[in-house]
Amino acid sequence: MSQRVLAHQDVGTGGTPVVLLHAFPLDRRMWRRQLDALSTRAVVPDLRGFGASPGVGGSVDDHADELCDLLDALSIERAVVAGLSMGGYVAMAFARRHASRLAGLLLADTKAGPDNDEAKKGREANIERARNEGAVAVFDAMRPKVFTPRTDRAHVEELRAIAASQSTEGVVAALEMMRDRPDATGALADIHVPTTIVVGSDDAATPPSEAEFMARAIAGAKLVSIEKSGHFSNVEGASEFNRALLELLVSVRL
Ligand code: MLT
Repeated sequence: MSQRVLAHQDVGTGGTPVVLLHAFPLDRRMWRRQLDALSTRAVVPDLRGFGASPGVGGSVDDHADELCDLLDALSIERAVVAGLSMGGYVAMAFARRHASRLAGLLLADTKAGPDNDEAKKGREANIERARNEGAVAVFDAMRPKVFTPRTDRAHVEELRAIAASQSTEGVVAALEMMRDRPDATGALADIHVPTTIVVGSDDAATPPSEAEFMARAIAGAKLVSIEKSGHFSNVEGASEFNRALLELLVSVRL
């Protein structure tokens, strides 16, 4: 078990706490539109190697265990965990390793399967890119898959600025972690908490077919497609995303 506590925001009071897990290569600042909409307690960490969190490296399971350490440090027994893309990989590992701490789950623009050979080659190319050109070059290489021709330029610039502030070491370690993450498909059937799967209809990085697969595999899961949104559906389709999140939180309280 890690002795380090992740850098985080802990805002609001009351209700079942919700944890928001950010995408790659970003940090907790990507969730500002959700924090504006939430009136209950929200805990928003920077995953290891990102933002203000210490350290780099570790497996997806290590990231899930660090989230559990954070809940311990905040005396939170159970939380709704919401993760987008890389955050979703960590959320699925948390569901598998710490099921008793999970009150509900939101998986956005993510997938349960592991990297195939082509994806692993892409990780290697991005590791080289990060080492030679820095973190923002990796973000720029992702742009054709994560944004659409319709994406608001201001959204691209906002996320690019967050990516530009990440360390090369943190980005390389996260690429290695994602490359080596295990297949999470088999454990989806073991998830028995209220679950919502969200996907941007135009997400080319983790397309709607992946979301449909997860929604079929998790008993009772609700599938929400956000029309005309790319990969970062919490930014591009913030109001629909927030509605899905708030509805999940209400269903957990019932
Ligand atoms: C993300 O947005 O976190 C990344 O697209 C995840 C990945 O590269 O697998």
